[in-house]
Parts: sequence; structure tokens; C-alpha cells
Amino acid sequence: MTTLLGLKCHLCGAKYPAEALWVCRECLGPLEAVYDYALVRQRLTREIVESRPPNLWRYRELLPITGEPRTGFNSGFTPLVRARRLAATLGVDELYIKDDSVNHPTLSYKDRVVSIAATRAIELGFDVFGCASTGNLANSVSSHAARLGLECFVFIPNDLELGKILGSAIFHPHIVGVRGNYDDVNRLCTQIADRLGWGFANINLRAYYAEGAKTMGFEIAEQLGWRFPSHIVSPVAGGTLLPRIARGLRELKEIGLVSGDLPKIHAAQAAGCAPVVRALEQGLEFPEPVKPSTIAKSIAIGNPADGFQVVRTVQSTGGTGVASTDEEILGAIQLLAETEGIFTEPAGGATLAGTVSLIRQGVIAPDESVVVCITGNGYKTAAETVGGRLQKPIEIGRSLDEFEAYLRSAGLAAGAASGASGRS
Ligand SMILES: Cc1ncc(COP(=O)(O)O)c(C=O)c1O
Ligand SMILES: [Zn+2]
Repeated sequence: MTTLLGLKCHLCGAKYPAEALWVCRECLGPLEAVYDYALVRQRLTREIVESRPPNLWRYRELLPITGEPRTGFNSGFTPLVRARRLAATLGVDELYIKDDSVNHPTLSYKDRVVSIAATRAIELGFDVFGCASTGNLANSVSSHAARLGLECFVFIPNDLELGKILGSAIFHPHIVGVRGNYDDVNRLCTQIADRLGWGFANINLRAYYAEGAKTMGFEIAEQLGWRFPSHIVSPVAGGTLLPRIARGLRELKEIGLVSGDLPKIHAAQAAGCAPVVRALEQGLEFPEPVKPSTIAKSIAIGNPADGFQVVRTVQSTGGTGVASTDEEILGAIQLLAETEGIFTEPAGGATLAGTVSLIRQGVIAPDESVVVCITGNGYKTAAETVGGRLQKPIEIGRSLDEFEAYLRSAGLAAGAASGASGRS
């Protein structure tokens, strides 16, 4: 028996069956899944979760499917890395990286939400699976559709980084580059979903898709030993992830797996596209749309679908909003790479840069624990972001003499020689 009872409007509470509906007919509010928590409580203990394979379906009773999972058998349960060198650099004791830059199969947090949306697309009988995307979602939808044998259409702004375009193209979907920004792409896809009846992960399947993001919250608590940190810093674009991390944590309390206060959840954006941060600063409940201009293209969404849910979640947990310039984002990408050996894309740079600001401002105190959500991989955007700034390889001939000459010219000869003799 499934634990999924149906859908409910987040704003007015109107109830709906678990179909491909994306807004409330009464008030146009977003719809969310409703579960039988009494049943979940009986079925999901810490021991049961821990006995299951390390993927996002460990929490399947809290995910909105009615049959068996169809995909995502290696998605989720990404590393929670204790970042000691980074923490020491920033002057805090306990800092973790939730590393979705190595999520399977397409190296971003989107593999969580797509695992659920794709499974639900099949359950609801869609033959065509698609999305409106800033790049990572298109990669994930294309990959999961290939594995499932679904016809696939992904819609993206026409100016994305090459790695993001190729990262979809390899799976051979129909890729539509729209001359416009993400908000234009999203508007078009809403019309297509309505006209053609296709299943769009983040439009008419959004209520299911969004639930996949809760698994980031579940895993953070489990990987910390069934406890909450003091702070979580999350990037915000369309606003799916941040409120669902909080929803996931609340559900863990609801079913009795974790107790204690929810962490303060902070929203990180790029200064060139920060509608949610502005709304938090100005005390607005609904963010005002902005026109994005930032290197952080994956989070360049000027009119976030779930913006007000982000505002509400940040406020209710005692968090803040923090925006970082492109220069700060690039600096944070470099810092994470040099201290922890993790290469993230600008979305992760914005999240870490925001964390650095919050530590400097004293919002995150040195003795408090913080989890930084790194949601995407730097290899996809390397050329366009850090490509021009990095050291080129030195080039030499094939002889040892030439290498030693290089060492001498770089002032490294003595150190290298003593290092070599030390090891022999
Ligand atoms: C790498 C990355 N991080 C974060 C986000 C933000 O996602 P959300 O729409 O859940 O706010 C996105 C996508 O839009 C993304 O691609
Ligand atoms: Zn409603």
C-alpha cells in the first residue's frame, strides 16, 4: 500500500488526486504531495533506512510514487565531506560539504528530482518526458529518459555553456535552444505542456519532482548521525531545493527519526540574479522578477517559481539571504578546489561565497556546525568560468636535464631534491 494520499495546495489547502496537475485551480498556488505519516512512521525506522542500498530510495515512503522506482538506483546518497582545511581557513570548527557535484548519473542535484519525476512520468503514462532548464536539469532529464527509453525534449536558453549543452546532446534528446532567458523558456514550456500533454519534470510533474529535493535534507541528517546541523546554506534558482530541504527535515521530526530544532537555512544567490535575497532584504513576501546577468547561469532564474516558499522557509528558520558577485563566486570555486579537492560550478561557488560572507558577518559563529550544499560540478563549466585564470601546463622536451632546468628556473630545485632523497 502506498503512503501517498494525493496532492494539496500549499496555500489554500485544497485537495487533489495524485495526477499531473501543477497549480491549484482555486488560487493558482503550488501543489505538494500529502502522505499518510502514521503509516510512514510504522514503516520507516532508522534501522530500515540504514539497511537499504545507498541511494535516494532509502526514503521511498516519503517520496511520491505509487509503484516501484524505475530509475535513480545510484542517485543520491552523495558524500557529506567534513571539510577541515576549508573550515580552518574560514575560522570555523565544523563545516561540511554536501557534495552533489558527484551525483549519479549527471553530476548535479537534479539527478534527485529527476529520479522521482521520471518514475512518476511512467506511472502516469507519459511517453514524452521533458523540461525547461538552465542546463543541469536538461542533462539529467536527457540521461534518465535515455535509460528509460522515453522520447525526450529539453528546452534551454540558447547561450548556455558548451559543457552543459554537450552534457545533454550525448544522450540524444531533442534539444531546443530558445532565444531568450530561462524565464522565457519556462513560459514556452508551460504552453507546450498544456497544448501537447507532454510530461515536463518541472512543470506539470513539479509536485513530484520537488519532493526529490527533500532527500538532500534526509541525507544530511542521517550522515550527521541522525542530527541537524546549526546552519545549512543552499543555492536558490527556481526555489525547489531550499524549501524541500526544510520540508524533509520537518518530516524526519514528524516521523520521529530526528529531534531538535531545525537548522537556520540560508539562501545563496549571485548578485546578478538575486530576486529572493532582495525580497528578504526588503521584507517582501513575493520576490520581484529581475533580469539575470551573471556567470552563474545554472542559477540565473529571474522569476523563481517557488520564490515565496524560499522567503517563507528562510524567515521561519531564522536564516538570511546572501548574494555574491561573480568575482566572489570565482574566488570561492578556487578556494573549494584548493582546500578540499572539490571542483564545483558557479552555483556551488555562489553557495560557498555566501557561506564565507555569513561567517565573516558573524551570522555563522565559529563553534556552530554548517553544511554547504554544493549542487553542481565544475568540469561542465570549466572553460567559461575559470578557464582563462588557471595556470597553463609548463612545456618541456623529453630530457631530465630540461626538467631540472625548469626546476632551477622556478626556484624549486633544492626542495625537490631533498624531498626525493627523504623518500628514498
Ligand atoms: C547546480 C544547480 N544548483 C542549484 C540549482 C537551483 O535550483 P532550484 O531551482 O532548486 O532553486 C540549480 C538549478 O536550477 C542548479 O543547476
Ligand atoms: Zn489553492
